[in-house]
Amino acid sequence: MAESLTIRRPDDWHVHLRDGDMLRGVAPWTARQFGRAIVMPNLTPPVTTTAMARAYRERILAALPADADFEPLMTAYLTDDSDPADLAAGKNEGVLVAAKLYPANATTNSAHGVSDIARLDPVFAAMEESGLVLCVHGEVTDPEIDIFDREAVFIERHLERIVRRFPRLRVVLEHVTTEEGVAFVQGSGNNVAGTITPQHLHLNRNAMLVGGMRPHAYCLPVAKREKHRLALRKAATSGSGEFFLGTDSAPHARGDKESACGCAGIFNAPFALESYLQVFEDEDALGNFESFASLDGAAFYGLTANESSVTLVREDHVVPEVIDACGTPVVPFHAGETLRWRLASG
Ligand code: DOR
Ligand code: ZN
Repeated sequence: MAESLTIRRPDDWHVHLRDGDMLRGVAPWTARQFGRAIVMPNLTPPVTTTAMARAYRERILAALPADADFEPLMTAYLTDDSDPADLAAGKNEGVLVAAKLYPANATTNSAHGVSDIARLDPVFAAMEESGLVLCVHGEVTDPEIDIFDREAVFIERHLERIVRRFPRLRVVLEHVTTEEGVAFVQGSGNNVAGTITPQHLHLNRNAMLVGGMRPHAYCLPVAKREKHRLALRKAATSGSGEFFLGTDSAPHARGDKESACGCAGIFNAPFALESYLQVFEDEDALGNFESFASLDGAAFYGLTANESSVTLVREDHVVPEVIDACGTPVVPFHAGETLRWRLASG
């Protein structure tokens, strides 16, 4: 039985770092585990332009210790009014790596998201041309569609068309939660990939709803049936290269989660690698962990893997019940549970 595992320093291809005190409280956790991260733009107001992304990047770097070995990779939030020329310039100037498509009102701070996706074709064309990656929150917001079906319907109604129409556009279906999502990524060729979160590998919808409502297991897209969780575990651990690590770590104050209308989002940044690694071990796939965590995402984004490495050691430890994010209490994923691995260096 392996007692330690050393891999290239991983990257997180989907994270929410927030702003202000919360940013100062959570960014060091991500920087400790990861060399780079694709930073989501759903602030209030959202990061919609190259200039805003540049300024946000500076705030992230200022929130980290001077010796942090971490590079934030910036994204722009697409709206009905996105300017294709500004996005292409952001990519060419080395500020933007991706742009994020949130259907309007799909999730936290997405009120400014896109209301008519088909009207964004000029933006997708400019992204395809300039090499800006399209990161997709793949859920329809149609009130007629059951929340557990929203990912599968989004793929049918929107994603299949986008991928057909813009075959050279690189598209990431973020936080895949269904077997339909897995099949879509697998059937779509080399320009389409998927990220998978730790929570969707560990939790099905029972974990959220049986024996009481558990707000700390609630995120969007919501966890689905067990068969979907099993499909995700198989996809993540398969070593295929088309699925890679994206935590979707999304901190909210404890009081905002434990509320009559609790916010969506799971704060998994503090022990994300430990959480993923446990899944790979349970699936007898430790040999594929480096590929998922450190190599495949970088290759998809056209970047080289990090030079430095991290070591995880087998050591039981209990995850704290709460973490202080510069004055805000936040409940981490796996709070109170024992994890079997621990990040030793970094
Ligand atoms: O659960 C989620 N939380 N899903 C998202 O898409 C957004 C995120 C957040 O920003 O809190
Ligand atoms: Zn997210």
